[in-house]
Amino acid sequence: MALILKCMNFDINKIRADFPILSRKVNNLPLVYFDNGATTQKPQAVIDKIVEIYTKYNSNIHRGVHYLSNYTSEAYENSRKVVQSFINAKYSHEVVFTSGATGSINSIANSMCQNYIKPDDEIIISELEHHSNIVSWQVQFSGKGVNLKVLPVNDFGELMLEKLPELISEKTKLISITHVSNTLGTINPIKEIIAIAHQHNIPVLIDGAQAVQHTKVDVQDLDCDFYVFSGHKIYAPTGIGVLYGKEKWLDKLPPYQGGGDMITSVSFEKTIFNRLPFKFEAGTTNYVGAIALATAIEYVQNIGIENIETYEKQLLEYATQKLSSIPELIIYGKAKNKASMISFLIDTIHHYDTGMILDKLGIAVRTGSHCTEPLMKRLGIDGTVRASMAFYNTIEEIDILYNGLERVKKMFF
Ligand SMILES: Cc1ncc(COP(=O)(O)O)c(C=O)c1O
Repeated sequence: MALILKCMNFDINKIRADFPILSRKVNNLPLVYFDNGATTQKPQAVIDKIVEIYTKYNSNIHRGVHYLSNYTSEAYENSRKVVQSFINAKYSHEVVFTSGATGSINSIANSMCQNYIKPDDEIIISELEHHSNIVSWQVQFSGKGVNLKVLPVNDFGELMLEKLPELISEKTKLISITHVSNTLGTINPIKEIIAIAHQHNIPVLIDGAQAVQHTKVDVQDLDCDFYVFSGHKIYAPTGIGVLYGKEKWLDKLPPYQGGGDMITSVSFEKTIFNRLPFKFEAGTTNYVGAIALATAIEYVQNIGIENIETYEKQLLEYATQKLSSIPELIIYGKAKNKASMISFLIDTIHHYDTGMILDKLGIAVRTGSHCTEPLMKRLGIDGTVRASMAFYNTIEEIDILYNGLERVKKMFF
């Protein structure tokens, strides 16, 4: 532990003190929060920013000539630049604010189905996908005869990349794939997938909901056509997310929604859409969320995403080693390249039972299918217990989880 902190050059106690919720108790025991894959906790800086906007500056953006409106509009556009630099987008107008990863995928699915994806076309997803990257397409494809093709995973939970060429055909219009599996933690070889897709002139959408908080993302280096993520999984509030799209694609695609702010002119006969990115931001956006997202990103950048990645990798290594020492515990997802989460079951003990007993001990984990039912089917189970770790978690907390699992065992065996 001391070694980790020394080499990381960051003070875990100071970091934990930035997150007020981490000092609360649950069932009279210190909270151990291992449900970061579902949502992350918020640092005081983000909470303060929300309060600051509502107490000092609140006003609708891009609509007023007065001081408050100018202030919030400028802060909102500055947030776009913060996101642009965070993911290294070429232009800030390639960053569209949405309600989250789900909102972003639905938006692209709808736009693509208006003028790009036609009946009988295909898109390729993977067996690892969250329901967001399955159902969003099915909703748009309904009755249109468009097909989903699925890249399978091997027994380690890694994508079987060798099968990709045989799935690609002249009907393939998009590959939409997760960067990191929210259930198994697998980090997918997305750069390779993007390169293969581009050899066939197929655009690629990357679902980064479980990636941006753990690893450096550079959309220009990846050369992805779209990249989406949710603010709440990277220490920002709920209800704000990002849709990155290459300019050429965002220019080409029609808007998903109509309304205020996304137009240049409106008459009853004809509407001319606004320029990028406003074409895709209809109505009053979650400008407070966007401003707070920038604060969260700056907080992460202050610690350093590389430091976060190194620290979390050590947490993962320790947790894997510790949990593997429980003979009855089966880990699902043994990919070589994994983000800091572990999915497991203890023998035949139901995941809900394990989760509920851990809760009594103040430990928050996620149980169930993690919105990946097709993956559960592939694994032949109906759910797992998932411990997903963030940079504010500690080795001591992993020990508490281990002791909790020993207690679970004692209750059942
Ligand atoms: C991989 C992945 N994609 C998409 C989503 C959907 O994110 P949201 O509910 O924030 O829109 C999640 C949420 O858990 C996820 O893990």
